[in-house]
Amino acid sequence: MAPKVLISDKLSDAAVQIFRDRGIDVDFQPDLGKDKDKLAEVIGNYDGLAIRSATKVTEKILANAPNLKVIGRAGIGTDNIDKDEASKKGVIVMNTPFGNMITTAEHAIAMMFAVARQIPEASASTHAGKWEKSKFMGVELTGKTLGVIGAGNIGGIVCDRARGLKMKVIAYDPFLGDEKAKKMGVEKVELEDLLKRADFITLHVPYTEQTANILSRENLAKTKKGVRIINCARGGLVDEEALAEMLKSGHVAGAAFDVFAEEPATENPLFNLPNVVCTPHLGAATTEAQENVALQVAEQMSDYLLTGA
Ligand code: MLT
Repeated sequence: MAPKVLISDKLSDAAVQIFRDRGIDVDFQPDLGKDKDKLAEVIGNYDGLAIRSATKVTEKILANAPNLKVIGRAGIGTDNIDKDEASKKGVIVMNTPFGNMITTAEHAIAMMFAVARQIPEASASTHAGKWEKSKFMGVELTGKTLGVIGAGNIGGIVCDRARGLKMKVIAYDPFLGDEKAKKMGVEKVELEDLLKRADFITLHVPYTEQTANILSRENLAKTKKGVRIINCARGGLVDEEALAEMLKSGHVAGAAFDVFAEEPATENPLFNLPNVVCTPHLGAATTEAQENVALQVAEQMSDYLLTGA
């Protein structure tokens, strides 16, 4: 009998086609992930579950999934999956670490420009028929120091693009070797040094015990006056309350956030502050990236279900 896969989030149609072409019986129910009771009811019928971020694979879901062999995350972060429980049950968790890295890096760069030149506020003001030419004074990126926290796949692309913009790039990443840093043309620094020197700080680390609250109140207080902070990585890396206070006091000149401690974010201490650009977790939201991650996750899951590899 053909293995059965459920897609419970909005995944590109390309994934459905791949599963079908590989002889997998696929159910595409893109809104099911939001209904955890219904998901728990039906998950027992499937060998594979393909998701993005809306589906939360909890202990309860796994307890109802005796046939499940593989969970495929079309994207990078697997923090919406109870991985300990999955591993206890012998369910493999796979992600697609490369499919959306360029798109996410580009979003971080776009957010840096947006906050440097107050583009969203200037756009809203112009749409409103005001012509506030003198209100929106920005800063140049050329010659500024960009502090990159996490210089892996996405952070590495951000470093490359920022160097192209003639920024000085300094990076804090305990896994970044001296040789690699040299090749990338970035200066490897300790976190304290980065906080003191950076004009812009951008985060590109996963949310783990080590990185949670890495920009804590205490660390934010060590930053240079006038710093601008960009987070397109994960909510919970920055103390949002402390950052909001520092934006109000003027110590931090601006922030651009795509991710929030609580998502979906309908309320947040950063909302409605001047010089704060917010987007609703759009880091991976391009047609190219969504096509890439959907194709990759479908191929990987099919390989595993059909050959165990
Ligand atoms: C990811 O982990 O791949 C990104 O945060 C994108 C997403 O969750 O949709």
